[in-house]
Amino acid sequence: MRNVDEDSITQIVLARQAQAQDPRLKQVMTSVVQHLHAFARDVELTEEEWFKGIQFLTDVGHITDDKRQEFILLSDTLGLSMLVTALNNRKPEGCTEATVFGPFFVEHAPHYENGEDVANGAKGEPCFVSGRVTGLTGEPIPNAHIEVWQADSDGFYDVQYQGEEGSKGRGSLRSLEDGSFHFRSITAESYPIPHDGPVGRMLKALGRHPWRPAHLHFMIEAPGYERLITHVFRDGDRYLDSDAVFGVRSSLIADWRRHEPGVAPDGSRVETSFSTLSFTFILNREAATEGGDKR
Ligand code: BEZ
Ligand code: FE
Repeated sequence: MRNVDEDSITQIVLARQAQAQDPRLKQVMTSVVQHLHAFARDVELTEEEWFKGIQFLTDVGHITDDKRQEFILLSDTLGLSMLVTALNNRKPEGCTEATVFGPFFVEHAPHYENGEDVANGAKGEPCFVSGRVTGLTGEPIPNAHIEVWQADSDGFYDVQYQGEEGSKGRGSLRSLEDGSFHFRSITAESYPIPHDGPVGRMLKALGRHPWRPAHLHFMIEAPGYERLITHVFRDGDRYLDSDAVFGVRSSLIADWRRHEPGVAPDGSRVETSFSTLSFTFILNREAATEGGDKR
């Protein structure tokens, strides 16, 4: 094909990829090309701007490694992560809502028994977390696999500390027979997402702040139920209405009750002020399989 011009190029590119074997890949790439071309036409993209965009994406790639995922930060701050989460987590009324995964989950975090301290030395005021995992009709879900992870009071996840090994402020546990669970950790504080790279520069140029309201991450899995990836947010946080990654749902905001030094829920004496948090997670049943039975 010769003499491709600004009017013909979109259809010509689409025709060139029309033989793609995978129908879903073809559908997705058709839409990508259409929307990219429409965007360039819409803003009359200059060559200089296009090159700046390429340079920006190159910078995003260069700063990304196994500890720093700038592409996820980019997706999160553009609202794409939350949009994909919303599209893929339409649940019946009453189920706990999902929110963004974020870049700081780590597989194979240590396993804890109920009552143990997942902070494992992470800096912060003690927090005693309890809750239940149930289905929509209130049925307790025992033995659910619960992953929890959070930043410390300086706003950093353990993996952000260079040269330090070991899990702090993260771990897994199992719900008990009645669906309940409890553990000790530290009180969540608001923190800025990493903003010393290209995404931070983008936020600054757009007049946006990088802060996330205080939250605790959870991922909960149980046979027969959909996996839930969510957070619990701390009521009263100043960033609840301007989360840098658009992840706040009203139903996920909970009261972190402050307590003066004294006896904690586990009976131990705490010499500093501490907080308590209680939250019930309601999981959605997996769709029935073709044979009609539910797994
Ligand atoms: C987080 O909550 O861990 C997070 C989410 C999105 C971007 C950065 C951090
Ligand atoms: Fe977080």
